[in-house]
Amino acid sequence: MNTPLDRRRFLALGGGTAAAALTASHWASASTDTPVHSGPVPDGVFRLGVASGDPLPDRVVLWTRLAPQPLALDGLGGMPDRRVPVQWQVSRDESFTQVVRAGATMADPADAHSVHVDVAGLEPARWYYYRFRSGSELSPVGRTRTAPAPGAAVNRLNFAFASCQNYPAGYYTAHANLAREDLDVAFHLGDYIYEGGGQGKLGRGHVPNHEIRSLADYRVRHAQYRTDDNLQAVHAAFPWVVTWDDHEVENNWAGDDSDPDSPVEEFLARRARAFKAYWEHMPIRANRAPQGPHMTLYRGFTFGALATFSVLDTRQYRSDQVACKQADCADAFDPARTMLGDEQESWLFARLRESRTRWNVLAQQVPLFEDPNVGQPSDKWEGYRASRARLLDVFAEERVGNPVVLTGDVHKNFAADLKLDWDDPAAPAVGSEFVGTSISSGGDGTSVTRYDPDPANPHIKFENSGDRGYVRLSMSDVELRADYRVVDTVERPESGVRTLASFKVEAGTPGIRRG
Ligand SMILES: [Fe+2]
Repeated sequence: MNTPLDRRRFLALGGGTAAAALTASHWASASTDTPVHSGPVPDGVFRLGVASGDPLPDRVVLWTRLAPQPLALDGLGGMPDRRVPVQWQVSRDESFTQVVRAGATMADPADAHSVHVDVAGLEPARWYYYRFRSGSELSPVGRTRTAPAPGAAVNRLNFAFASCQNYPAGYYTAHANLAREDLDVAFHLGDYIYEGGGQGKLGRGHVPNHEIRSLADYRVRHAQYRTDDNLQAVHAAFPWVVTWDDHEVENNWAGDDSDPDSPVEEFLARRARAFKAYWEHMPIRANRAPQGPHMTLYRGFTFGALATFSVLDTRQYRSDQVACKQADCADAFDPARTMLGDEQESWLFARLRESRTRWNVLAQQVPLFEDPNVGQPSDKWEGYRASRARLLDVFAEERVGNPVVLTGDVHKNFAADLKLDWDDPAAPAVGSEFVGTSISSGGDGTSVTRYDPDPANPHIKFENSGDRGYVRLSMSDVELRADYRVVDTVERPESGVRTLASFKVEAGTPGIRRG
């Protein structure tokens, strides 16, 4: 759908290569081969901000959705029922005097007037600025960064991960602070929206005020979250790689199973609506748009010779949760039950074994480490012990360099070693897991922090509850450092942030160390 910049005009403007800058005023022609019904574009179409994501060495996805009335309950955002042209520019500088790519696309009502521009021909490991235009209106400016070239030496990669941003539960003070961090890329591990109708106590009640089920409902809910200035700021600050957990569809869904169970066809229809709205609102490539109730969200990213990231989907292909309340019940060990599904598991294991990067990072949803102090862990990897054992066996293979797992979901911070034998306190670590607390879910709590909380389970190095925030990481060839960043409050619009705890993993030595 994107119209590449007309090459003759490009050359006439003084560029012979993709690196040559266009003039400041250059916008690609908005005309396309598809007729557009005439009519004015409403004012205020960029009220949902801009975003970028899924960075590759030569390209990145640019996103916006035209929605002058984001909360319109029909889910159409106040847009007319026709396609509307949107132009875009990518520049080396914030004032757009060095535009290197420009083009035009169509915002289609079939996709809620969202656009997913896959801008190619960019240089690796480089910052760019981007913006959109519709009619006479300009979008806010976003900043994004391409990944380093394959195999390239990378001195340092700065990134962060976040999860669980229940809108009524708190202001996005964590996002406000995250937006100010010096990062190359950020990861969202799910619970980007919540599906319930909760109103909270902060004047940030969910719209609509009931559990979302229709496509219009899911669109309005995503749009409501995206009206938040802090969420817009964090998307505009750097590229994001996103994956979902359960609340993007429904609490604790698993594969084809809803919770509580509803007829499969009914649930799959709902899942299709939720997936569509999710894709419409995320900076994900257009070719990953869902086909009915199926959307391939697991995917990989490589940052030079330094890191391979595997972004997982632990919801869509998993077996239903075990019914028993104890994770050590026989069902939890059933090798026929799966967390990833056969295809994703094969993809992941091959990717880990073939990777030649220093670090191998899994960006995923639910805790992997054994936590014997949790009453009902059946939603986590503990409820899928055969799947977990297979994964940890791969981690233990010598050729898989420095496996690290990033996790969300539980609204608590943890740091833990990953082991083949959880019952042997002396068993060596084969990997490391960082679990990050929520952005806002749970609201302000009573902060409780414990180091080495359980002598019988020395693999658990750190546990913190009651705080909200995100985890910031800095990676080099030598070590991976993680700073647990927590805000003072999510129940007031402004908050400071501080580092609650720091840990590191030394390359070549699996396991978490105080740092
Ligand atoms: Fe959550």
